Amino acid sequence: MEIAAQYSDDRSAPPSTLVIFGASGDLTRRKLIPAVANLARHGRLPKEFALVGVARTPMNDDEFQASILGGNGLGDLQQLAGGGLRYVSGGYDDPETYKSLATLLDELDHQRGTRGNHLFYLSTPPQAFSPIINGLAGAGLNRPRAEEGFARLVIEKPYGSDLASARQLDATVHTAFEEQQVFRIDHYLGKDTVQNVLALRFANSIFQPIWDRSWVDSVQITVAETLGVGTRGSFYETAGAMRDIVQNHVLQVLALALMEPPASFGAEALRNEKVKLLQAIRLPTDRDVADVAVRGQYTRGGTREELMPGYREEPGVDPLSRTETYAALRLDVDNWRWAGVPFYVRTGKRLPARVTEVALQFQRPPHLPIPGNQLTELEADALILRIQPNEGISLRFGAKVPGHSFRVRTASMEFSYDQTFREESPEAYERLILDALLGDATLFIRTDEVEQCWRIVDPIIEHWANDTSPIPTYEAASWGPTDADRLIGRHGRTWRTPN
Ligand code: BG6
Repeated sequence: MEIAAQYSDDRSAPPSTLVIFGASGDLTRRKLIPAVANLARHGRLPKEFALVGVARTPMNDDEFQASILGGNGLGDLQQLAGGGLRYVSGGYDDPETYKSLATLLDELDHQRGTRGNHLFYLSTPPQAFSPIINGLAGAGLNRPRAEEGFARLVIEKPYGSDLASARQLDATVHTAFEEQQVFRIDHYLGKDTVQNVLALRFANSIFQPIWDRSWVDSVQITVAETLGVGTRGSFYETAGAMRDIVQNHVLQVLALALMEPPASFGAEALRNEKVKLLQAIRLPTDRDVADVAVRGQYTRGGTREELMPGYREEPGVDPLSRTETYAALRLDVDNWRWAGVPFYVRTGKRLPARVTEVALQFQRPPHLPIPGNQLTELEADALILRIQPNEGISLRFGAKVPGHSFRVRTASMEFSYDQTFREESPEAYERLILDALLGDATLFIRTDEVEQCWRIVDPIIEHWANDTSPIPTYEAASWGPTDADRLIGRHGRTWRTPN
């Protein structure tokens, strides 16, 4: 593949040190290190770049390198040869850890020319966020060390577990860092196809007039996974589908799909519009929750050849767990553009397909001048944005069937990312790490956005926590509990079966 064509713009990181807390963790190994390696391979990192891992596990630099790269040597990360890949071990609440880190960063700034530019990436369990922020501040690392330098903080999800805890975390963050220094990650925003929602809507004029209540009948957003919780059972027990996917990924995609056109794609303009949209989402009263929200938990299922365990049988999961692995909601947006249009969102683990999509279904024509018996399989027009996999867009409409009579059937026009561009998209984390190194916060979550997202999911999570009735179930590899069909069926609609 032609890397030059793939990365023909000139965005590359400034001299800097990336410090990863939680360096011996799963996310670091699976996502962050490969993302940094890709940035290096694509020529996005300067030679004045260093990577420092921080974690509790005692290791030296060589052992750290072996742990993240296997026995393969530096490979794409040759930039880090000669002392650019370092490790600091220590407790997150031990001031000594941060003293050692500060000394190491000074050394790197002088020896490698990283110029006092420091990006701290918190990829630890959330309990460690506050101690790390306090530790960084205690060692003065929350402020740029050089006149021109920067100190930035990237924070992984989950950002709090409800509105109150998110506010508490924010208070700690803001004791040490200005909001402009803070980059809250939602890796969905790093996906090219999520950003393409913006391109489709705002780089074209033809979609703008139909993007509202006069044309759109309803919208369905699906984030379906085939995997179960795997080895993350004990974490997932504290999260569930609402906190793990709806509060962040689903609401982010929804906000981009429904917000008003921003004046620019600058970080503040774009995030202002997202916040306004999120503010317009109606909150259900406790009594209404049952009408607008459905949860479910997967049970054993699949085929004889591939039998999948139920959620309660997964490692780390309480055998009587009431954690939801599926959630479906109807959301209403109380603004001029969307009043009266229902937004159906659903997400789940162990569903039959891995698919993330946004489907706008348009109104039926007001009058059909064609007799009913000449309509074969005519579905409502729809525009489907496929976020993953088979990234692309489908436009579904009715077309005349070839022949001597006038019959109409559903057809579609397809746009495929792969076939059109023949270029590989950067991984979400690759894009986001580069943006943070460049100080571009457009694709990160602002503090008021986090609050809005919790405001929306909190009442539902709370209602479920107080509901003692048995949690609805669905068999692994099925499309969720039957309650979800009733939720959408109440107004005569059905869930799409993504293909
Ligand atoms: C993460 C969730 O944020 O997103 C996981 O914690 C989920 O549970 C993952 O599997 C899905 O991401 P992607 O990029 O595979 O759709």
